[in-house]
Amino acid sequence: MTFVVTENCIKCKFTDCVDVCPVDCFHEGPNFLVIDPDECIDCTLCEPECPANAIFAEDELPEGQEIFIQLNAELSKQWPILTEVKAPLPEADIWNGKENKVEFLEK
Ligand code: SF4
Ligand code: F3S
Repeated sequence: MTFVVTENCIKCKFTDCVDVCPVDCFHEGPNFLVIDPDECIDCTLCEPECPANAIFAEDELPEGQEIFIQLNAELSKQWPILTEVKAPLPEADIWNGKENKVEFLEK
């Protein structure tokens, strides 16, 4: 099992999640973070830390978010590891909660 970053992280990227991960499995893209499923130990620590409620266990994904299992797996192999909290994206509060953000995902 793994935890998965889902759509509501896009254009927010609050990064609180990286601070608690004991095994450094978060990887950073331009406007989204992903979890490496091969590194995640299912500790559950990151899930409550996300201000955008974007992190879910793989088997508890909200309907329509299943595509993010594959996106986390793929993009975590391409993007660098992020281990330190940084400022959210400038319009994070505006984009938090907006639907259909996947079209804005920058790879
Ligand atoms: Fe890291 Fe634990 Fe979250 Fe997995 S569940 S990404 S190991 S903090
Ligand atoms: Fe994204 Fe939430 Fe982490 S918005 S960067 S998954 S704290």
